[in-house]
Amino acid sequence: MDKRKIILDCDPGHDDAIAIMLAAKSGLLELLGISVVAGNQTVEKTVRNALNVCQYLKLDVPVYQGCKQPMIREKQMVAGDIHGESGMDGPVFEPLVKTAEKKHGVQFIIDTLLGSEGDITVVTTGPMTNLAMAMRLCPEIISKIEEVVLMGGCYQLGNVTPAAEFNIIVDADAAHVVFTSGCKITMVGLDVTRKVLCYPEIVERMGKQDNAAARLFVDLMKFFNKSQKEVYGWEGGPLHDPVTIAYLIDPSVLTIKEMYTEIDIRSEQSYGRTNCDFFHYSGKEPNSRVAVDIDVEKFWDIIEDGIRQYSQGG
Ligand code: RIB
Ligand code: CA
Repeated sequence: MDKRKIILDCDPGHDDAIAIMLAAKSGLLELLGISVVAGNQTVEKTVRNALNVCQYLKLDVPVYQGCKQPMIREKQMVAGDIHGESGMDGPVFEPLVKTAEKKHGVQFIIDTLLGSEGDITVVTTGPMTNLAMAMRLCPEIISKIEEVVLMGGCYQLGNVTPAAEFNIIVDADAAHVVFTSGCKITMVGLDVTRKVLCYPEIVERMGKQDNAAARLFVDLMKFFNKSQKEVYGWEGGPLHDPVTIAYLIDPSVLTIKEMYTEIDIRSEQSYGRTNCDFFHYSGKEPNSRVAVDIDVEKFWDIIEDGIRQYSQGG
């Protein structure tokens, strides 16, 4: 069976790093490239982090620097309280040799989609600026996208404000562009990612494997869990971004409900809210497939198997 082709647009980020790890060696996925966006930290830092992950895991995947600020919002939000000053505090890497490609991340997305047979899934695990800018610059790519799978939003509680989740609130206008594009959209929100808390016993389980991926997982989660405990009181950090990749590896890991979703780009208090019409109350045609539950055991098995791929000399 042909591998599913994906572009991963991300803002590494501890959990983005695990998403890269899981996608890059999956026998079911072909990771065509990584475009990086400002989010958890400035784009210079998130690019550096993506390059470090690829170099450390010996991944021959091109990395492209994308947008350094939201489409419209003046204020660039970062998440240093969760991901640290570097955006991926914790692991110590060898001097960085791998460099980003010359092409801009937005142009990479456009060129790759335009040159495809319409069989590419775009996964976003950071603010959606790069994908939205690509859609605005070149609307022809919209019909070429097989599916957008995003980590972002929530139909319940947010994590930056009660209303909004980080990836959306950082650039809600970008999310609006994507959610109104007509693409097939699968939204993996906090509603399910907060069910996969990376408890110490999970870290210990994943660390039992003797390979670079296991070691990186442990180093990343040690920092991530500490900051998540300090900020939110979680006993284990919610492993947000890899849920998108786990869904592509085994869609049965998620329970999906079709909903009409509208992004709040106008209000003050609720700016960045993904207003998901859970009860179909508006009568509006659903434009998104929203994850409403996750098979937690299956998810951790997928993560464990993803780490195992780095032992098999691949
Ligand atoms: O709200 C969680 C999301 O914001 C995750 O993707 C995390 O990496 C940050 O980007
Ligand atoms: Ca992220």
